[in-house]
Amino acid sequence: MSRTSVHVRSADAADAPILRELWSDILRRGTAAEQEADLVGIIDDCNASGDRCLAVAEVDGRVAGAVLLEATTLTPLNLEPTLIAVSPHVLPEFRRRGVGTALMDAATRFAEAQGIATVATAATASSRDANRFMARLSLTPQATFRAASTTAVRAKLSARRAVSRGRGSRQIDKVLAARRLGREHVAS
Ligand SMILES: CC(C)(COP(=O)(O)OP(=O)(O)OC[C@H]1O[C@@H](n2cnc3c(N)ncnc32)[C@H](O)[C@@H]1OP(=O)(O)O)[C@@H](O)C(=O)NCCC(=O)NCCS
Repeated sequence: MSRTSVHVRSADAADAPILRELWSDILRRGTAAEQEADLVGIIDDCNASGDRCLAVAEVDGRVAGAVLLEATTLTPLNLEPTLIAVSPHVLPEFRRRGVGTALMDAATRFAEAQGIATVATAATASSRDANRFMARLSLTPQATFRAASTTAVRAKLSARRAVSRGRGSRQIDKVLAARRLGREHVAS
C-alpha cells in the first residue's frame, strides 16, 4: 500500500472557494458567493474560538479534504463533553489514500488535547463507504438524524388533527346513537 503524505492545517479565508466545492451538497442553498460568505464566517469563528477548528488536509500542497471540529456536549441534554467531527469530506480524486484517516486523526488529537473522552460524527445513512470507514474506527451508530421542511411537518400535523377530529366526532355520533336506542328500548 503506497503511503501518501497528508498535511493537516487550520483553514483560512482563502480556502473558502475550494471548501465550497468540497461541501457543495451540505451547505445551505444559495449562490456561490453566499455559500463562500458562509464559509468565511465559519472560518473566522473557528479562528477566534478555542472550541472549534476547521481542519484542512493537503496532499502535495492541494486541498484534498476537510472537517469542522467542535468541542461541545453529546447533546444539549447529555452534557458529556464530546468532540464532533462535522462532515469529514475528501474530494473523490483523493479518496482511499489516507486523507480521511488524517482528518479523523486531527479530530482525535483535538479531543485528546482538550481531555474530551468522546468523538462523534454523522454519516449519511446511504453512504456505505463512509459508514464502513467510521465503523472501522470504532464509531457505532447512536441515532438517526431526520429533517423535513417546517411546512411539510405542519401539513402532516394538520392532516393528523383532521383525522382525529373526524374520529372524535364519529365516536360522539356512536354515543348519541346508543343513547337514542337505549331511550327507545325503555319507551317500548
Ligand atoms: C468517508 C471518507 C471521508 C473517507 O475518506 P478517505 O480519504 O477515502 O479515507 P482513507 O483513505 O483514510 O480510508 C478509506 C479506506 O481506504 C483505505 N486506504 C487508506 N489508504 C490507502 C492506500 N494508500 N491504499 C489503499 N487503501 C487505502 C483505508 O484503509 C480505508 O479502508 P476502509 O474504509 O475499508 O476502512 C470519504 O470517502 C468521503 O469523503 N466520503 C464522502 C463524504 C462522506 O460521506 N463523509 C463522511 C461523513 S461521516
